[in-house]
Amino acid sequence: MKVLLIGNGGREHALAWKIAQSPRLTKLYCAPGNAGIAQEAECVPIKADDLSGLTAFALQEQIDLTIVGPELPLSMGIADEFRKAKLRIFGPTRNAAMIESSKSFAKELMVREHIPTAFSRAFDRLEPALAYIDTCPMPLVVKADGLAQGKGVIICDTLKEAKEAVTGMLEGQQFGQAGAKVVVEEFIEGEELTVMAFADGRTVIPMVPAQDHKRIGEGDTGLNTGGMGAYAPAPLGTPALRERILKDVLYPAVTGLSRVGSPFYGILYAGIMVRKDGQPFVLEFNARFGDPETQVVLPLLKTDLLDVIEAAVQHRLDQIQVEWHDQAAVCVVLTSDGYPGSYKTGIPITGLPLANSDSMVVFHAGTANEDGATVTNSGRVLGVTALDATIRGAQKRAYEAVESIRFDGRYYRKDIAHRVL
Ligand code: AMP
Ligand code: GLY
Repeated sequence: MKVLLIGNGGREHALAWKIAQSPRLTKLYCAPGNAGIAQEAECVPIKADDLSGLTAFALQEQIDLTIVGPELPLSMGIADEFRKAKLRIFGPTRNAAMIESSKSFAKELMVREHIPTAFSRAFDRLEPALAYIDTCPMPLVVKADGLAQGKGVIICDTLKEAKEAVTGMLEGQQFGQAGAKVVVEEFIEGEELTVMAFADGRTVIPMVPAQDHKRIGEGDTGLNTGGMGAYAPAPLGTPALRERILKDVLYPAVTGLSRVGSPFYGILYAGIMVRKDGQPFVLEFNARFGDPETQVVLPLLKTDLLDVIEAAVQHRLDQIQVEWHDQAAVCVVLTSDGYPGSYKTGIPITGLPLANSDSMVVFHAGTANEDGATVTNSGRVLGVTALDATIRGAQKRAYEAVESIRFDGRYYRKDIAHRVL
């Protein structure tokens, strides 16, 4: 099978690494990829949002299956384009991907399908939004409706902050078109859990639950980032809670989308807040694999990923068994000094392992090759994932490996998985 993978981050490296293990693979391309992905795939310099370039490439190379990593091409309709060209692609159509690309769309679906979520209202005009905020208890959550690279959510402790947040989005063009509509949402206190699932419009197969660390600083403090580390399986996701999320969240979302004529084929990601009393509330849906969660979940997958994805594309997920290794995985992300603000790139990296193994993998999130050397190329640079019998063991192994990898300005959190330990 000839496969084209789209994207260039740690998530895509984890996907490439897993796909490359499949005996069914004959050739793997990645567009555009990075220096780590190049160990597993032939990288082609086509950007993830160049839909016509990607379609032309897939036709020319007679790609059997295309797998999409990031949300942007999905929200632009890459799955629709590929299907029109009779190309097989794993990922939702533009309309189904609205579960991620429009928070108000996702909220309406959740209300219609009785999926547990925080109470909210959507506004595209300032006056009614401000009047509504006056009636709300604090804290309050203000969200830009559209895609904002994880930055469109503002937790407001005071009325003044909430009003500034909606004003910034609706009048100040903060987040541009993504903030032309806002969702004002009740604040829910609890612990976050990620549950990703394979979906084929009908059947849903959940993956092991994971938790990520979004904040830059130890103790989960400071600015939000794209993710500083993750671990799986998260003990917070007990078998009873997983069952409940499958029944009350994932299935209703998939059947609800089918009901409105937008069946969801792809990876459905539920970002859940588990309240102190154990009740799950959906904070967001994503229409793709999470990053860095994928870097801990895929190494635990025992079944051939291509078999699962092919079954999803052929709408026969109900006919396969997905198996998991009885192990735990921890991923520590190494970033460039200054991230999530500004940072330098092009810094040489030393100490990278010559080869990855089944229980220790260095995923590249933002690297490039320059004159034969591997250099930093982004804020998040590497994700070091280790497996072991326990989270504690995996954490220890991951940090041992992190220590040997060096580059100027290297930063990482020393407390990944602290909530479990
Ligand atoms: P989202 O992009 O919707 O996942 O939001 C980003 C982050 O904001 C989440 O990971 C949560 O930490 C926080 N958040 C979002 N919605 C809420 C909410 N209703 N209550 C509390 N925290 C929230
Ligand atoms: N880790 C959060 C996300 O992928 O959106």
